[in-house]
Amino acid sequence: MQAIEAVPAQDAQRLVILGTGGTIAGRAALAGDNVGYVAGQVSVGDLVDAVPMLKHLPLDVEQVAQLDSKDMNFDVWKALAVQVAFHLGRSDVMGVVITHGTDTIEETAFFLQSVLKPAKPVVLTCAMRPATALVPDGPQNLSDAVAVARQVGAQGVVVVCAGQIHGADDVTKVHTYRVDAFDSGDAGPLGCVEEGMVRLFRPWPGACLAGSFDASAHDRVQASLVLPRVVLLTSHADADGLMVHALLAQAASGMVQPLRGIVVAGTGNGTLHKNLEIALLEAQAQGIRVVLSSRCVRGRVLAHLGQRFSEVSSLSPVKSRIALALDLLPG
Ligand code: SIN
Repeated sequence: MQAIEAVPAQDAQRLVILGTGGTIAGRAALAGDNVGYVAGQVSVGDLVDAVPMLKHLPLDVEQVAQLDSKDMNFDVWKALAVQVAFHLGRSDVMGVVITHGTDTIEETAFFLQSVLKPAKPVVLTCAMRPATALVPDGPQNLSDAVAVARQVGAQGVVVVCAGQIHGADDVTKVHTYRVDAFDSGDAGPLGCVEEGMVRLFRPWPGACLAGSFDASAHDRVQASLVLPRVVLLTSHADADGLMVHALLAQAASGMVQPLRGIVVAGTGNGTLHKNLEIALLEAQAQGIRVVLSSRCVRGRVLAHLGQRFSEVSSLSPVKSRIALALDLLPG
């Protein structure tokens, strides 16, 4: 693969660093404990202060949320999208960095890329070890994220971790413990950061053509109190239609937000256990959108003749859920 040497950044532009919590802001009782900590404890201001390389840069720092990202929700995504859009609209701001937990960083990145398609860089970063660790990985990741956000020509939403730059559409957390916990599947990383220098392997994610972000998609999201209800199911040995029937019965009771879609993580090329498939066909016949994705960590679902569901996704199951929910938004 031919590496593209990127142009170094200029100094005169501001960056905004938004904090949302995560292990990068985690605190443990013992310095040697990399797993028994509480995420989302240290302020983003303190995280920035802990990185000497950032001391003399023009930065604005803001705490948008303070949570363990396993608890991420639409309200935080909306608040984040508002702040990111606001700061990207400032003529003095070059880009935005977001500190985030690793567990759902790929979902937040995908959401922001889908909604904003920013023409400036939005760089999410994280850590696998808490801020109190003997050797925390957060400070280096934050420093690398800032280097990416200051890169001339950078655009779109990316995730920076362990020296790698991943595109929002491709990145997936693949390891429970290692500091290089992310992978971009068949696409591979967009590039890497080496001693503060960015080396690109392929183009930045696509951006909106006019302005600094896609205002119309952002407006649709902000006008919605909730994301349309889309649930995620998995096909597996012994799978049956029980969950689908329970969802349909609950939806018919009118007691919950109406079910609009089901994403199913199928086996292989989106295939389904026959018992689950029968139930999903019933759901589809009742007007529920059913989208096939795959449990496989690499590859995509390829549509084929004779397929009984009209929608297949090349995204991971969790990103397929977001894509379908956004597609179902009114407007
Ligand atoms: C989280 O996702 O907030 C906790 C786990 C992590 O950041 O590694």
